[in-house]
Amino acid sequence: MSKLAAFIHKMRSGFHREAQIIEPEFEIRDLATCMGEIDWTTLDVIHWTPAWMTPAERLLLYTLVFSLRPKRYLEIGTLNGGSALIVSAAMDAVHTDGRLVCVDPKPQIDPDHWKQLERRATLLKGFSPDILPRAYETVGGLFDFVFIDGDHSYTGVKRDASGVLPFVTEGAYLLFHDSFSPDVARAINSFVAQHRAQVSDFGTLTREFTTSSQHQESPSRWGGLRLVQVWHNDALRTAIPVMEFVVATLVAVCAIEATKVATTNVKCVTAMLKRELLLCVNPPANLSEVCNYR
Ligand SMILES: C[S@@+](CC[C@H](N)C(=O)[O-])C[C@H]1O[C@@H](n2cnc3c(N)ncnc32)[C@H](O)[C@@H]1O
Repeated sequence: MSKLAAFIHKMRSGFHREAQIIEPEFEIRDLATCMGEIDWTTLDVIHWTPAWMTPAERLLLYTLVFSLRPKRYLEIGTLNGGSALIVSAAMDAVHTDGRLVCVDPKPQIDPDHWKQLERRATLLKGFSPDILPRAYETVGGLFDFVFIDGDHSYTGVKRDASGVLPFVTEGAYLLFHDSFSPDVARAINSFVAQHRAQVSDFGTLTREFTTSSQHQESPSRWGGLRLVQVWHNDALRTAIPVMEFVVATLVAVCAIEATKVATTNVKCVTAMLKRELLLCVNPPANLSEVCNYR
């Protein structure tokens, strides 16, 4: 790895929070053979799991866990264990040692289903966000994937989203269920706006929804999976694209100079670049304070 690549990697990793980063595991796969290594029978869970989720949502949850391979998964709202069974099956398919912590004040998990979960999961009876410190202690580390499917009121969703922030890693994913519900949507929008510098909002990634038959005149929408990624280190998050732009421009300027077309403009750009580079390489001393949620 070049020095520049190493520097960018270090900045992306957030060197002020090194202890709290879960390094993703990358795998080189041989496409000719790897299909046979996957236990595709684990996908059966999509058909039978007692989840309050549409087919697309079930597949997406399975796929996200299959692809992102979270090490510590937190679930707020478990009820019958339907979504937890999907997550556990996807972890089985890729043979990871991922752990689940499921939080619900009134879980109702069938004993046969719990047998499939207990190897990986801990069930905590209680309300989020009060119970989150216990959830964190249970797995002994920060969560890298959170499924928020508990209290669906505006205040409930906002409270859960903000409440999990101290307990998630740099780059953690928050997946919200029922993002088509107007209250949930409003809460996520407000959370994203409030933490604009710390989150990347990928929007709602499914297009299926259900409607409640109780309110025929103004039926409520349910369903929808919206994905948000958390970056604690907002100063670095903004500095990195600037630095990458600066480096790219620097390369372009060098190319121009190499062709001997040095102009006043180039001098101005170079002076500006020097200033930007100095800022990037010597970030403000109070950076670690800027990005601390606790
Ligand atoms: C829609 S269900 C969850 C369904 C489950 N995720 C699935 O797809 O299989 C919502 C659950 O959230 C729980 N809940 C409500 N408020 C909660 C809170 N503050 N913390 C944790 N769970 C909560 C309810 O008891 C209920 O079981």
